[in-house]
Amino acid sequence: MPHDFMPGLAGVPAARSSVSDVDGERGVLEYRGIRVEELCAKSSFLETASLLLFGPLPSQSDLDQFVGDITIHRRIKYRIVDLIKCLPEQGHPMDALQAAVAALGMFYPGRNVQDRENNYWSAVRLIAKLPTIVAAYARIRRGDDHIPPRDDLTFSENFLYMLSEKMPEQVWSQVLDSCLILHAEHTMNASTFAGMVTASTLADPYTVVSSSIGALKGPLHGGANEEVVEMLREIGTPGRVRAYLERKLKDKQKIMGLGHRVYKVKDPRATILQTLCERLFKECGASPLYEVALEVERVAVELLAEKEVHPNVDFYSGIIYDKLGIPVEFFTPIFAMARVAGWLAHWFEQLKENKLYRPDQIYAGEHNRPYVPIEKR
Ligand code: ACO
Repeated sequence: MPHDFMPGLAGVPAARSSVSDVDGERGVLEYRGIRVEELCAKSSFLETASLLLFGPLPSQSDLDQFVGDITIHRRIKYRIVDLIKCLPEQGHPMDALQAAVAALGMFYPGRNVQDRENNYWSAVRLIAKLPTIVAAYARIRRGDDHIPPRDDLTFSENFLYMLSEKMPEQVWSQVLDSCLILHAEHTMNASTFAGMVTASTLADPYTVVSSSIGALKGPLHGGANEEVVEMLREIGTPGRVRAYLERKLKDKQKIMGLGHRVYKVKDPRATILQTLCERLFKECGASPLYEVALEVERVAVELLAEKEVHPNVDFYSGIIYDKLGIPVEFFTPIFAMARVAGWLAHWFEQLKENKLYRPDQIYAGEHNRPYVPIEKR
């Protein structure tokens, strides 16, 4: 049967899902029907993860159980720490995360993905251990010791503590928790799809998540948040923005952190992240990057008006992480720590009605060519 070829599968549905929904014309994002604005204002990352994974908002006792399960599974085995110690310190943390997550699967080798209880514990381990792996690599690569997690701290407090061995200010952990909520899920994006392709072969969840981590790394997806901060630093002051953007656009280069396959208006997550920036800067002092970012948004939206290009989730998140003292290469791993909830929610959903992904192609080559001996070519 002939089909139209849709580059990038744009507009082609790849699954039926009730995990989340985006209205790209109105700029609305909902997780299980609840708007992200409301979740950011009222929920926590772990409650949102439970909502994504299991459906309705959890009862207090279900939430306590889930948070307790996550909390006691934060530790990583000393062999995983040893593995991280063997990685080159100049390597990209997303590669370290991908390698460590793939290795985790070797320690928890349940292959039967129809075993619901085993799947629950795999999801718990993955959500619990990703921050510990990220923080361990951040410290080990700069020559410091790995700091084990603390059970008395919340998810976000504990992550910031494992990075610095200091108790973070309350506003830091609250802002980080909201950032994690905003990054937890976003319908059929490239990393979710990559994970689903792997999951469709009935591979184990550690392999699924390591596939997703690989897809998230690229600069057209999660990796854009690093490039935004580098660009803002390169521009330096608001007065230099217009000339910089005009030069980039003249050279047909993309401006990182802008544009989206689905949103034709400003990404609602970018708007919430701006509010979080302002809250953080009010309590902890301004960031010079923010003034430059505001001017980039203003000028870029004007220059790219016809193409409906606006800030996406990666535009303001890096400015927050930079203010929290997190090195640039760790911005995308933080994205992964949150998005693992969405990846696993899609995995749970997919297992109920799995079909191996095996798309078609439009063959554009030749047929019946003769094999020419090498001396005659
Ligand atoms: N800067 C300049 N021009 C842009 C940008 C941008 N950031 N984004 C889109 N455009 C232009 C394109 O050049 C293109 O123009 P043309 O029609 O004259 O060729 C038009 O808008 C359509 O853009 P496409 O790249 O074809 O649209 P697509 O849906 O494939 O792109 C994408 C989406 C990849 C995100 C793109 O906007 C981009 O590269 N942005 C920069 C990278 C980025 O921020 N990625 C993070 C996305 S959010 C996330 O994944 C978490």
